[in-house]
Amino acid sequence: MRVLGIETTCDETAAAIVGVDRAGEAKILSNEILSQIAAHAAYGGVVPEIAARAHVEAIDRIVARAFETAGLKVSEIDAIAAAAGPGLVGGVMVGLTSAKAIALVTGKPFIAVNHLEGHALTARLTDDVAFPYLLLLVSGGHTQLLAVRGVGDYLRLGTTIDDAVGEAFDKIAKMLGLPYPGGPSVEREALNGDSERFEFPRPMSGRPKPDFSLSGLKTAVRLMAERIAPLSDRDVADLCASFQAAVVDVLVDRTRAGLRACREAGISPSTLVVAGGVAANQAIRSGLTRLATEAGLPMVAPPLALCGDNGAMIAWAGLERLRLGLIDDMGALARPRWPL
Ligand code: KG4
Ligand code: ZN
Repeated sequence: MRVLGIETTCDETAAAIVGVDRAGEAKILSNEILSQIAAHAAYGGVVPEIAARAHVEAIDRIVARAFETAGLKVSEIDAIAAAAGPGLVGGVMVGLTSAKAIALVTGKPFIAVNHLEGHALTARLTDDVAFPYLLLLVSGGHTQLLAVRGVGDYLRLGTTIDDAVGEAFDKIAKMLGLPYPGGPSVEREALNGDSERFEFPRPMSGRPKPDFSLSGLKTAVRLMAERIAPLSDRDVADLCASFQAAVVDVLVDRTRAGLRACREAGISPSTLVVAGGVAANQAIRSGLTRLATEAGLPMVAPPLALCGDNGAMIAWAGLERLRLGLIDDMGALARPRWPL
């Protein structure tokens, strides 16, 4: 069984083919990605109009490359999946329309995948993770703790009341004059910084409901940066390290509350999983590994290439849906807002 997955919800044009063999072993047969980072860097963030146009220009080439790399013909796949949201509507429509066109021409099933479900199920593509599991989903637009009970069966335990974690990284980077995308820039600076120089707040710490708040932390970093300006290289590194340490503490504390909430809901998670672009952060991965050990659970984080947006996660979610007979018709619409 093989599925083509197309991802165009933000600033990556991506297409991949994922398969499972007869023994049920999952395999990524191709995973092509064209990042638009250079096109948006000058603006310090993603510009929707530029993104949509870049997706239109790249999509056919990226899909063709996914087939070439896999050494497969269109007739050799079983279904076509595309992320139908949440995300920037212009980009989503490009991927969705391409997927529907391929499905119509070939007569193969079409599957509309929720981008967040793609992140949520990635751990099952790379590791043997059984349902239910506790998922910390941290990306540029989303910060959620979910009990993943099955494909399409998600219990949201908590979410952010203001900024997403990735968004906070991006805003701090912009404020400190670091290149876009902010997460990797802040992480790089933090490596050389003193995480104890500034004591930033850990919002929501100790609260039983596993919700998040990042905006107060972001403001604290801004006020400190303004107070000590002009900033030396050392100041920037120390601000990044102190900010990142606060984020790690917050995520560990909130995920601990998520574990408790999960068990209170009668769900006994098999694994602690972290996913989304921010899951690439090594300090965050280490903090969560410590928490998992404390809780007696295995911790699974996707390999770095599968943390950020990619086509394989959409192909895999499509494959999980196809196995359950969950296919969509051509009426499936782009959904800029689409909670899991
Ligand atoms: O999942 P993703 O690729 O796109 C969305 O669906 O949002 O996540 C992108 C986000 C950006 O905010 C980016 O700054 C952040 O993930 N990110 C990181 C790191 N790498 C990417 N944040 C912290 N540390 C990183 N190493
Ligand atoms: Zn994403």
